[in-house]
Amino acid sequence: MFKIVDKQVLNPTTIKMVIDAPLIAKKAAPGQFIILRVDEKGERIPLTISDSDKENGTVTIIIQIVGKTTMLLNNLEKGDSILDFVGPLGKASELDGYKKVAVIGGGTGCAIAFPQAKALHIAGAKVDMIAGFRNTDLIILEQEMKDVCDKLTVMTDDGSNGNKGFVTNALKENIENGADYDLVIAIGPLPMMKAVAELTRPYNIKTIISMNTIMVDGTGMCGGCRLTVDGETKFACIDGPDFDGHLVDFDEAMRRSTTYKDIEYREMHSDDCRLLNKINK
Ligand SMILES: Cc1cc2nc3c(=O)[nH]c(=O)nc-3n(C[C@H](O)[C@H](O)[C@H](O)COP(=O)(O)OP(=O)(O)OC[C@H]3O[C@@H](n4cnc5c(N)ncnc54)[C@H](O)[C@@H]3O)c2cc1C
Ligand code: FES
Repeated sequence: MFKIVDKQVLNPTTIKMVIDAPLIAKKAAPGQFIILRVDEKGERIPLTISDSDKENGTVTIIIQIVGKTTMLLNNLEKGDSILDFVGPLGKASELDGYKKVAVIGGGTGCAIAFPQAKALHIAGAKVDMIAGFRNTDLIILEQEMKDVCDKLTVMTDDGSNGNKGFVTNALKENIENGADYDLVIAIGPLPMMKAVAELTRPYNIKTIISMNTIMVDGTGMCGGCRLTVDGETKFACIDGPDFDGHLVDFDEAMRRSTTYKDIEYREMHSDDCRLLNKINK
């Protein structure tokens, strides 16, 4: 069992949990993820290691509440335990040797982009972070992101933080104002990552994206996380989750991501799940 040593609510739909997992904390690197199971009947879900503390033996995860398992997680409190917590999984991000990088997060993707920005910053790269949210109430990790970059731009779709627009607007402005990026990292919803990759393509700026495909085993066995990169079949769990954004078949990935929509909807609205929510209100 893996104890929850801290829990914080970051916005109405996002929580942060610090988990006691010393063996994972010892090995974790930016870009890697864990797979957890809340209890013995639970489904396995992947979550990125947002931060880790080798000394205290803890791993931080940031969770957007979107369906049954993330709701069950949200029902747990500090002091409770999670049954299975496996990792670190996936390849660590390759971040060596870059001088000027734009790190872009969309919504909860900021939690995944944060460790990359932190590692690049520590390695001495100049880092511009661009974070996008639907509205100002959903902004998370603003101070944390500020602390690990040279310039942070927070955009909102509706302009409620005074900065209206998408992350691509801010990225284009930075590039056109002469930011000489040798790498762009974009992490968030598939349409956002696709838009960033299309923006950087004509400028020929290397662009890394993190694929949040459906994952089951996380070890390359089930094929659930299959995607096409440069015409070849890859598995996000073992070949990624980072890939060259200019080579990913985003349209196929977007089609595959909706495969289980009906089942997920039924699970979230099942009596079982409603009961759990009522108990915890
Ligand atoms: C490598 C990786 C890292 C991720 N990191 C984070 C993170 O740090 N924070 C975060 O909030 N979310 C992260 N996700 C997404 C997270 O796994 C899903 O939000 C979660 O599985 C939803 O489960 P649910 O039962 O609550 O919702 P459901 O109702 O089951 O699903 C809601 C949506 O979540 C996605 N999803 C569902 N099951 C899976 C699955 N087994 N694998 C992948 N996606 C799934 C689908 O897009 C689905 O439409 C990551 C996904 C991947 C692949
Ligand atoms: S999650 Fe099963 S092959 Fe990747």
